[in-house]
Amino acid sequence: MVKINEIKVNLGNRSYPIYIGNDLFSSFEKLVEGFSNYSGLVVVTDNQVKKLINEKIFSLKKRCDKSVSIICLPPGENSKSFKYFEFLCEKILEKKIDRKTLLVCIGGGVIGDLVGLTASVLLRGVDFVQMPTTLLSQVDSSVGGKTAINSKFGKNLIGTFYQPKSVLISLNILKSLPYRQIICGYAEILKYSLISDNNFFLWLKKNGHKIITLEKTSLIHAIKKSCEIKSKIVSKDEKETGIREILNFGHTFGHAIESQTGFSKKILHGEAVFLGMFLAIKFSAFLSFGNEKMIENYEDHMKDLKIPFRLSDYNLRFTAKEFIKHLRFDKKVKNSKLKFILLEQYGKTLSYILYNEKLLIKFLEKNLE
Ligand SMILES: NC(=O)c1ccc[n+]([C@@H]2O[C@H](COP(=O)([O-])OP(=O)(O)OC[C@H]3O[C@@H](n4cnc5c(N)ncnc54)[C@H](O)[C@@H]3O)[C@@H](O)[C@H]2O)c1
Repeated sequence: MVKINEIKVNLGNRSYPIYIGNDLFSSFEKLVEGFSNYSGLVVVTDNQVKKLINEKIFSLKKRCDKSVSIICLPPGENSKSFKYFEFLCEKILEKKIDRKTLLVCIGGGVIGDLVGLTASVLLRGVDFVQMPTTLLSQVDSSVGGKTAINSKFGKNLIGTFYQPKSVLISLNILKSLPYRQIICGYAEILKYSLISDNNFFLWLKKNGHKIITLEKTSLIHAIKKSCEIKSKIVSKDEKETGIREILNFGHTFGHAIESQTGFSKKILHGEAVFLGMFLAIKFSAFLSFGNEKMIENYEDHMKDLKIPFRLSDYNLRFTAKEFIKHLRFDKKVKNSKLKFILLEQYGKTLSYILYNEKLLIKFLEKNLE
């Protein structure tokens, strides 16, 4: 029996709990605060996840005396669009909802971001609960209240900050998750250790393989630790005006790689983050903030887990000039200066604004391997 773990995201009257357990679908009505006050539930999921949760929703319907309807969207990033945002709003409104309707979002980060945005604007705001079903969404996107859809000008450019009422993380649901997606979640777990907790990194060095093979005890520890780190940061800086930016560690370089490959399946977000973190660590050492030992440690861990971490592992080749062009697409570029989250040591970040682009060119010419 896996006991239910609880973490709190402290945001004053927008605070909420994150529960982590084996199968939280079966205790949904007990875990969602004020469940009896909701007039009805609208579950939003994607076609792939629906197959996994059909019976659980059916059982919830039987257990509670409320209307429970389900809306399905196509899986994949394309659903984070104006088209599906409109589709979803109209579908939900068709169900004659009121302000006491609870939206329940069951899926990965795509469904989470879209439903979060919808909840924040529908009837000027209805409550929603996150039930993340990918490792990445469990440790990252379901926590912190960033919602978004994409624009033709870039990813996540249209969105709100809107916190869920609770986050319910079930481990069982991960059994069907493809290995590539598990690895993507691990990228974010590793990121938390590198930016804020060297002991967690040392623990991951020993136990990383247990996480990517979904061994329950280690998985719970890693998810809990990751959610604790993220919720602590979000509690200090909900709207990313300061410290929350450290969560972008590895993402600026990673985003350039995703942008260069057209955000295609050639390299998934988490996979690009592994490459991005490696470049960020090397850039830290290149600028003499960090050291060579950090690079070695990272390489060893990647090799140990057989995780690709170099551009050549994906047969990708960029010139420094091309790479910088894609770095500039990142929306975090302010006043045309590039900004990087770097490491002084594992667990200690620094925010670096690049004033001398020649340095970056010199670095990239040697390190885009
Ligand atoms: N809001 C935030 O703070 C935040 C943070 C990080 C990422 N994101 C966003 O999250 C999105 C990526 O999320 P993701 O990686 O979860 O991708 P995703 O939501 O596209 O899910 C990946 C695939 O896995 C399938 N899937 C989901 N759960 C499954 C399960 N249990 N078993 C089998 N298949 C399953 C989905 O149908 C989908 O095809 C991106 O749009 C990104 O921008 C948001």
